[in-house]
Amino acid sequence: MTNSNAIEQYRDTFVSYLESKTTTNEPKNLYEPITYILSLGGKRLRPVLTLMTTDLFGGNVSDALDAAMAIEVFHNFSLVHDDIMDDAPLRRGKTTVHEKWDVNTGILSGDAMLINSYQFLESYPTDIFKKLTSLFSKTAIEVCEGQQYDVDFETRDDVMIPEYLKMIEYKTAVLVATAMKMGAIIASASEDDTNAIYEFGKNLGIAFQLQDDYLDAFGDPETFGKQVGGDIIENKKTFLYLKSLELAEQDKREGLLHLYSIKPEDSETKIATIKSVFKESGAVEAAKAEINAYTQKAFDSLATINLPAENKVVLKQFGENLMKRTV
Ligand code: IPE
Ligand code: IPE
Ligand code: MG
Ligand code: MG
Ligand code: MG
Repeated sequence: MTNSNAIEQYRDTFVSYLESKTTTNEPKNLYEPITYILSLGGKRLRPVLTLMTTDLFGGNVSDALDAAMAIEVFHNFSLVHDDIMDDAPLRRGKTTVHEKWDVNTGILSGDAMLINSYQFLESYPTDIFKKLTSLFSKTAIEVCEGQQYDVDFETRDDVMIPEYLKMIEYKTAVLVATAMKMGAIIASASEDDTNAIYEFGKNLGIAFQLQDDYLDAFGDPETFGKQVGGDIIENKKTFLYLKSLELAEQDKREGLLHLYSIKPEDSETKIATIKSVFKESGAVEAAKAEINAYTQKAFDSLATINLPAENKVVLKQFGENLMKRTV
């Protein structure tokens, strides 16, 4: 079986399970948005990683399904609230929950999803349950911290790249890391191996968010599924922006600082101007190099893991394919 077929199979197994667990109870205005967002698809990256990690460490994929659900439902909760915070109109090519319903609905349906995500962990034996829950809670709090930094940075003009990297580690990478570590815990991997796979997932997650920032500006509006230029409209201090400030000529630098201190009516002109600065300054090239560097860093943490070489190859291929993504 080729690797991409294996990934497809994890995804299909997960999606069937998700569908069997998704029911729209009363009150409809609480549960319909949940079914809506969970059915919109998405890449299912994190649950696939959970199933894959359990499998690679010799566990039973079916034992990992509830943990994969916990991760994916949590992820979708965070997206519903994130779209409120980012004032985003589109998610996975469809209207966001708070625009289709309203902000209050997005808040409460999101809350219910967060609680629901924990309920999926209740099926595990006590010792595993304890490990999964404490990891999950630590991660959930870090995601909140990352999201707060992300919002705080919108109105700051002195954000530095190391702070940005910490922010994306928290808002995004730790959940990818946790998705994998949970899979390893379920397969009863050693503590050293669960920690090493966490590091792998974390560095891959940082590369993933750097790529997300790149696609937010340069993705194809036809296929990307989110509003292209959304981060520019919201004055998000992304790697592209921070690197442009470092690299651009003085006048371009000042223009950038000015445009990121306002929210003009005509966002199209702002987006076009900013994108050309991102390109001409060399920030796009630097972002691509950074994505590559974090992917390589992830691969480095595979060295110490106690896994057959062919299983490490599967993880590497996954990382390499992630770098090529366009959605
Ligand atoms: C979006 O995550 C939020 C980020 C952390 C960048 P994904 O890009 O995994 O979203 P879906 O689930 O595939 O839609
Ligand atoms: C989202 O980061 C991270 C979380 C949802 C925790 P973004 O705001 O960049 O994600 P998208 O681009 O809206 O998917
Ligand atoms: Mg967002
Ligand atoms: Mg956000
Ligand atoms: Mg984004």
